[in-house]
Amino acid sequence: MSLLFSPLKIKKIEFKNRIVISPMCQYSAENGLANNWHLVHLGSRASGGAGLIIQEATSVLPEGRISPEDLGLWNDEQIEKLKEINQFISSQDCVPGIQLAHAGRKASHAAPWSGHQQLNESQGGWKTVAPSAIAFGENEEEPIALDNNQIQNIVEAFRSATKRAVQAGFEVLEIHAAHGYLIHQFLSPLSNKRTDQYGGSFENRIRFALETLAAVQSEWPSDLPLFVRISATDWADGGWTIEESVQLSKILKEKGVDLIDISTGGLVHHQKIPVAPNYQVPFAQQIKEEAGITVSAVGLITDATQAEEILTKQQADLVMFARESLRNPYFPLQFANELKADIRWPKQYERAQLK
Ligand SMILES: Cc1cc2nc3c(=O)[nH]c(=O)nc-3n(C[C@H](O)[C@H](O)[C@H](O)COP(=O)(O)O)c2cc1C
Repeated sequence: MSLLFSPLKIKKIEFKNRIVISPMCQYSAENGLANNWHLVHLGSRASGGAGLIIQEATSVLPEGRISPEDLGLWNDEQIEKLKEINQFISSQDCVPGIQLAHAGRKASHAAPWSGHQQLNESQGGWKTVAPSAIAFGENEEEPIALDNNQIQNIVEAFRSATKRAVQAGFEVLEIHAAHGYLIHQFLSPLSNKRTDQYGGSFENRIRFALETLAAVQSEWPSDLPLFVRISATDWADGGWTIEESVQLSKILKEKGVDLIDISTGGLVHHQKIPVAPNYQVPFAQQIKEEAGITVSAVGLITDATQAEEILTKQQADLVMFARESLRNPYFPLQFANELKADIRWPKQYERAQLK
């Protein structure tokens, strides 16, 4: 029996299989509003057979967007289209999830196909914020170091966006604490040089993450799964480490987080990442074993036997796919054929199913 196609229940949600579409920015929204691109993109991956789709990094504030074209949930108008998309995803027996984010010093950049450079105000960008006034890129403008009031405003924005996410019908919520975005900027000593209660010691550097978590939990139903994505290491000297990731994961588990989504990197340009198939899987395994929490693995996982093996070796509980799903939204249907798993195809496509 295929483990990849075995169900997993977390809280009241049962995922029909262990295949997750990893969050992927589409840089295709206007004023944070979803549109038919998002409907077709997410919808085709739902009919493609994934068990869970986590929608792209969705900003809790306009200034938290990576690009002016990011999705957002900072106002009520943004709820409606997401609700329609989620209804379609659910109709395919797939669980709709959202990743809530604030990009901090990595905000205000052009979409990749427009060069991905930092945008100034005259180019449609805005002043960015961060724990400390340290720019991400050498030629980039320094962010404004957040004061306590501004920090609390962001925490409140996570709370309000969570309330809207519930109204939009999401059934999984993931807090984006990875890839060098705002929460990660607080975690890492390379980007956080504060001398107040948000900087210095491990306890101080994780404070913003825990305050954000508490705000999210005040609105997120306690019977729905809550995930946190972290970068398990900065891949840079003096940065956030795997040991700290294990310690944080233990605390998150104690506070009621259901799953840690294990990625790496994204904080500094001088990171050295040994990119190869499964390169992040050992971090997922270590956190699963040492923190005793449910985890997902992601990163250059592209085929059925590779994914099946990660589960067989108990290195992770869910497997996430990003670029493979862009190449082929129907890869789960194909994987089921390869692993001889008997799954339900969308009835409209049944005549293509190899028996
Ligand atoms: C187009 C694109 C957009 C992405 N956007 C996000 C995002 O919004 N949030 C996030 O946590 N990761 C994002 N990622 C990273 C992926 O979720 C994933 O972790 C990474 O691509 C490695 O998985 P893969 O080898 O299967 O592509 C993005 C990746 C791609 C290719």
